[in-house]
Amino acid sequence: MARLLYHVVLAVSLLALAWPASCQRLPVLVPVTKDRATSLHTIPFHYGTNLVVDIAGPLVWSACQSDHLPAEFPCNSETCQLASIYPAPGCNATECDHDERKHRMCTVYPYNPVTGACAAGSLVHTRFVANTTNGKNPVEQVSVRAVSACATTKLLKSLPRGATGVAGLAGSGVALPAQVASAQKVAKKFLLCLSRGGVYGDGVAIFGGGPLHLTAQPETDYTQSLEYTPLFTKEGNPAYYVSVKSIALENTPVPVSTRTLDAGGVVLCTRVPYTFLRPDVYLPFADAFRTAMKAQKAQEVKVVAPFGLCYNTSTLANTRLGYLVPTVTLALEGGKKWTMTGVHSMVDVKRGTACLAFVQMKGVKAGDGKAPAVLIGGFQLENFVLQFDLEKKRLGFFKLPFFTNCGHFNFTRRSG
Ligand SMILES: *[C@@H]1O[C@H](CO)[C@@H](O)[C@H](O)[C@H]1NC(C)=O
Ligand SMILES: *[C@@H]1O[C@H](CO)[C@@H](O)[C@H](O)[C@H]1NC(C)=O
Ligand SMILES: *[C@@H]1O[C@H](CO)[C@@H](O)[C@H](O)[C@H]1NC(C)=O
Ligand SMILES: *[C@@H]1O[C@H](CO)[C@@H](O)[C@H](O)[C@H]1NC(C)=O
Repeated sequence: MARLLYHVVLAVSLLALAWPASCQRLPVLVPVTKDRATSLHTIPFHYGTNLVVDIAGPLVWSACQSDHLPAEFPCNSETCQLASIYPAPGCNATECDHDERKHRMCTVYPYNPVTGACAAGSLVHTRFVANTTNGKNPVEQVSVRAVSACATTKLLKSLPRGATGVAGLAGSGVALPAQVASAQKVAKKFLLCLSRGGVYGDGVAIFGGGPLHLTAQPETDYTQSLEYTPLFTKEGNPAYYVSVKSIALENTPVPVSTRTLDAGGVVLCTRVPYTFLRPDVYLPFADAFRTAMKAQKAQEVKVVAPFGLCYNTSTLANTRLGYLVPTVTLALEGGKKWTMTGVHSMVDVKRGTACLAFVQMKGVKAGDGKAPAVLIGGFQLENFVLQFDLEKKRLGFFKLPFFTNCGHFNFTRRSG
């Protein structure tokens, strides 16, 4: 009997040793859909609900549903504290009341990234239902336990039709990347490949960070081609910042100093459809762009809001990298360059008119360091492979070659 027990113990411990290697968890995949009307991107969360992707969001929240369990997080719990670290500007902050009854419940203040509104909500258990992936196809369905805030449906105003909340992808403890990493034992990083939407199909998000293969070159893992720059956060702000040293148009520096860019910093932002520049960055940038376009005899036409510079497309050459316009280059800390050709800098707004997709911020004064110098928006992030590494605090980026795009992920599960 003792001998048998010994064998059982031995077998179990050998199995335990073999377990990590043979059963390593795969990254978690979801399609990312661009909404035509708002230019926001959404992901499926569970059973037909879709959440808006907000890379600066510190929480996951959705409109309260009847199947939500009653709040289970006391106000002084670690989860409640993690969910309250980043009170949004102008919103109430979580306070643990001495009142016994209130004390049992964690009240948080989720935030609508488009309108800036917030509302009181409670933390509840939920499930993130997605597929695991080998980087090429979905592998099998997983149901990842997660915590989200549940708020009034009024908070959904201005979000895409059908969206029921927001998936915050910031670096905080109760944002989706950290939750998937801890529940699913994948690396604390995530990959975004945002698609232009419509005929291009859905983009992809991979929690765990990759690999990423697209159908045009099935053997290529694009995460092997990433270049890196440090990611920063600012005190009291969960958004991801990168350090931009200078901006150039077709290799000619735009007269904007590093100091100007550092005041307020450069933020990656999925809440806005285009890149917004503070006036002290926009004006020299737009001037330099206009001068370069004059030199190539492009004809300026009446602007279409919110854009500040628009061109007659008959006077622009079209290439496989988009309209032939001066290449925008951001020189990043660490020496790497983020370059954008016409496909990332010019947007077709109507028949015959294309506009510069870099826009002046409204309601912000030149040099106001409280506002970011640059908000890099959705249009500029699309068709880049972006890997947010929360452990190493760095951003990996890679511009996809012209013959492929983020809509080329194969969402068909492998049979057998
Ligand atoms: C913030 O707190 C005040 C006072 O408790 C309350 O009147 C107000 O409605 C709260 N605002 C939100 C958005 O919850
Ligand atoms: C998982 O992948 C399969 C095959 O593509 C798809 O039908 C299913 O909807 C996916 N599940 C989720 C939750 O995304
Ligand atoms: C655009 O340029 C073409 C060719 O030069 C011209 O025929 C057309 O009238 C221009 N359109 C506008 C809106 O100026
Ligand atoms: C997508 O993956 C499936 C399953 O591996 C495969 O049969 C199919 O040919 C792939 N489609 C494309 C366009 O590569």
